[in-house]
Amino acid sequence: MTDSLTVRDNRTGQEYDVPIADGTIKAADIGKIRTDEESPGLAVYDPGFVNTASCRSAVTYIDGDKGILEYRGYPIEQLAESSSFLEVAYLLVHGALPTKAEYDAWVHEITFHTFVHENVKEFMQGFRYDAHPMGMLMASVGALSTFYPDAGKIKDAETRHLQIVRMIAKMPTLGAWAFRNAQGKPFVYPDNDLGYTANFLSMLFKMSEQKYEADERLVKALDVLFILHADHEQNCSTNAVRSVGSSQVDPYSAVAAGVGALYGPLHGGANEAVLKSLKRIGSKENIPDFIKGVKDGNERLMGFGHRVYKNYDPRARIIKKAAMDVFEVTGTNPLLDIALELEKIALEDDYFVSRKLYPNVDFYSGLIYEAFQFPPEMFTVLFAIGRTPGWLAQWLELVEDKEQKIARPKQIYTGDRELTFTPASERWA
Ligand code: CMC
Repeated sequence: MTDSLTVRDNRTGQEYDVPIADGTIKAADIGKIRTDEESPGLAVYDPGFVNTASCRSAVTYIDGDKGILEYRGYPIEQLAESSSFLEVAYLLVHGALPTKAEYDAWVHEITFHTFVHENVKEFMQGFRYDAHPMGMLMASVGALSTFYPDAGKIKDAETRHLQIVRMIAKMPTLGAWAFRNAQGKPFVYPDNDLGYTANFLSMLFKMSEQKYEADERLVKALDVLFILHADHEQNCSTNAVRSVGSSQVDPYSAVAAGVGALYGPLHGGANEAVLKSLKRIGSKENIPDFIKGVKDGNERLMGFGHRVYKNYDPRARIIKKAAMDVFEVTGTNPLLDIALELEKIALEDDYFVSRKLYPNVDFYSGLIYEAFQFPPEMFTVLFAIGRTPGWLAQWLELVEDKEQKIARPKQIYTGDRELTFTPASERWA
C-alpha cells in the first residue's frame, strides 16, 4: 500500500501522484494540477470548511461518530467529574496537568488579575441600558488591547503568558459587569478570597451583604458548565480567533473576534434560541405541531444537530445531569418537561434519526442558566467565559506553529469582467 493518491486530469490526460499524510492531502499539491503553464492550478471549493483541515492541533480530540471529546487526551467526562475549571484551563493552555505548586501559582496569578482599569468600568457604563451583554463583552475585551499595548509583542513568551492570564481572569469581571449594566445595578468588584466561579457569581448577584457566598452546588454546576465549554477544536469562534490571530494582531483583538462569532445564533446563541422555542411550544401537547413545522422546513429544532457529532454530544449528557443537580437547589424549571418530551419524540422520529440529529450542548444549558436567573442574553456570555482558555490555547498553538500563514482563502469569482465605466454625469444625464 502506498500513501498517495493518483489523480488523472481528464482535461489533459496527465496523472499526478499526491502524497497522503495524516489522512489528508495538501491543497498546495492539488494546486500543481493545471491544464497549462498560464492557467491557475486546481483549487478545492469548500464553503464552511466542511472537509478542510486548517491546522495541526494537540489541544482537543473529537470523534463525532462515537461521541468522544477529550482535552489534551483526557476524556471530558473525567474532567467534568473530578477537575476544576482553572485546572482544565491550565491543562488546555500548558498541555499537561499541573503539579500542586504549578496549580497554586496559576490560581494565584488568575485571582490577582481579576480587576480591570477603572476606565473600563466607565466605558462599560456608557452602553445603553438594553445593550446586549455579548456586544458589551466583545467591545470591552477588544478594548483591553489598548490598556496593554505590550500585548502586540506576540513573539515574546512571557508577554503572551501575561495576556493569557489577564484574559482568563478578567472575562468574568467583564461578563458580570455587562449583566449589572442591563439591570441598572452597581458594578461589584472581584472578591479575591473567592474561587474563580464563586467570585463570578458574587460579581453577578451581590447586593448590600458583606460577602456573597453562593450555594456550593450551584458553584460546582457552573464550574462544570465552564469545563464543558472550554474548547471544541476548530469551531466557528476558534476559527475566527485563529483567522484574526494569523495576522499577528494582539490576542485581545483575536479573542474579540471569537466573541463576535460566538454571538451568532448558529453557534453560541443557540441555547437562547432553544429557550425561546420551548417557551413558544408552551406545553407538551403542542410538540407534534412544532415537530411538523421543523420537518416541513419552517424552522430548526435549536439545540439539535452538530457539524461534528453525528451521535449524542457527550457534553449534552453531562449537562442533563448537571441540570438535575441545579434543579435540586432552585426547584425544577417547568420547561424541562417539554425539553425531555421533545428530545424523546425527536430521537424516535425518522427525520432526526436519518440525519443523525441529536441534542447538542445547548439543548439543556439554557434551562440551567435560567434556573440561575440569568436572562437569555447572558447565556452566550457564560459560554464565552468558559471558552476563553480554549481560544487562548489555540491562539498559542497558532503563534508557535511554523507551518501557519496569514489566513486567506481563495474564491470562485462569479461577477462581471472588463466592463467599461461611464461616469455618473453621463449615466444620469
Ligand atoms: N433542526 C432541523 N433540521 C436540521 C437541524 C435542526 N436543528 N440541523 C440540521 N438539520 C437538517 C438540515 O436541514 C439538513 O437537512 P437536509 O439534508 O434535508 O437539507 C441536514 O439536517 C444537515 O444539516 P446542515 O445544515 O447541512 O448541517 P451543518 O453541519 O451545516 O449544521 C448546525 C450544523 C449546528 C449549524 C445545525 O445542525 C443547526 O442549525 N442546529 C441548530 C442550531 C444549534 O443548535 N447550534 C448549536 C451547535 S452546538 C454549539 C456549538 O458548538 O456551537
